[in-house]
Amino acid sequence: MEGKTTIRFAERMQQLPPYLFGMINKMRMEKRWQGHDVIDLGMGNPADPSPSAVTEKLCEVATDPKAHRYPVAGGMKNLKREIALYYGRNYGVTLNGEDDVICTIGSKEGISHLCLALLGPGDTVLTPAPAFPIHVYAAVIAGANVLRFPLAEPEAMLQQIDTMCRSLYPRPKLVMLNYPHNPTGAVTTKEFFTEVVKLAKLRDFMVINDFAYGKITYDGLVAPSFLEAPGAQEVGVEFGSFSKSYNMAGWRLGYCVGNKEMIGGLAKIKGYYDYGIFSAIQVAGIVAMRDCEDGIASQVALYQKRRDVLCDGLNKMGWDVEPCKAGMFLWVKIPEPYIRMGSVRFSIEMMNRANVAVSPGAGFGEEGDGYLRLALVENENRISQALKQMKRAMREIDQEIAAGTFSLEEKK
Ligand SMILES: Cc1ncc(COP(=O)(O)O)c(C=O)c1O
Repeated sequence: MEGKTTIRFAERMQQLPPYLFGMINKMRMEKRWQGHDVIDLGMGNPADPSPSAVTEKLCEVATDPKAHRYPVAGGMKNLKREIALYYGRNYGVTLNGEDDVICTIGSKEGISHLCLALLGPGDTVLTPAPAFPIHVYAAVIAGANVLRFPLAEPEAMLQQIDTMCRSLYPRPKLVMLNYPHNPTGAVTTKEFFTEVVKLAKLRDFMVINDFAYGKITYDGLVAPSFLEAPGAQEVGVEFGSFSKSYNMAGWRLGYCVGNKEMIGGLAKIKGYYDYGIFSAIQVAGIVAMRDCEDGIASQVALYQKRRDVLCDGLNKMGWDVEPCKAGMFLWVKIPEPYIRMGSVRFSIEMMNRANVAVSPGAGFGEEGDGYLRLALVENENRISQALKQMKRAMREIDQEIAAGTFSLEEKK
């Protein structure tokens, strides 16, 4: 019998634009395969090692055959208890460590599956823009609508949320926050979270705060947890990650804490999708949280020095850059005349001409176009080198513009 099978994707796949960062990563890898030394300021992929106590514990537990069985899906009791203790110690938040904590395969997985548990067609999510892509696309994949509002001062954002809640029908179901914020590094206050909780109760929406960069803060600043706001656990949850605080991005370990019903929903849907995290990783996670707090401070000091080198260098080049208060990135406006290229083309030019990978702001939504996100994952020498190479590339572009062989207006 002859015939042909047509590969037909689900409608939801039509809602997913090509992953911009995937394209930049592919270009970076191709350049590296060609033998170029690409300086990577693109992804927030920590390059410094995980704490040695953590890797040692992993190796020890990995040899125990008991660890080779399916793990405890929502997280081991002891890891969940450690997360609860961490919240008590750091934020004065009381968690029982049982039904108000769940471990996830990184926070990205947790956010995605929680959205699948909470949202469906006809539901609306509000989120500030620019935004880390999963904050928008987790809801989109679940079939919900997403309305973005400008990331702004607290008062303006509260008003925006309130206005949207009053004018939309059906009412928005969820507000997705991310403080400290990726890509901008914006931080917020406990007072803002308190007002969000009041509004959530008044307008009947749930809240998620992505707190992946909770411990990556500079100049002595301490970022508040959403759960510090009175009543927060009645309206929402917070996601945390081992990826950034402990340089454990490849281990895939995160957690969600707060509202028990939301966590129950996440546990239910995860029960269908996965079997949890390798037990040896969970035990190593306990060591990270319990014993590696000092390591966070020295890692943050490293990022802060890199931030300052990058800021100074860009400002000396005539860019207008503010040091970030938190997170692993500098969010910088591309200066004239290069801004006319748009952030995607500028990033491609930097990759091709300077061997420097950067993330185009457009990858965080159209509000981000005109900006670049520069990750602080390379060491100070390599950051200085990247600045020299970018400067040379921009000089080259200037010469080509003058010669009429390069047009800034043609976008890619
Ligand atoms: C804001 C934000 N949330 C979540 C993640 C993903 O973290 P995880 O490794 O825990 O999935 C990232 C990673 O870059 C991020 O920037």
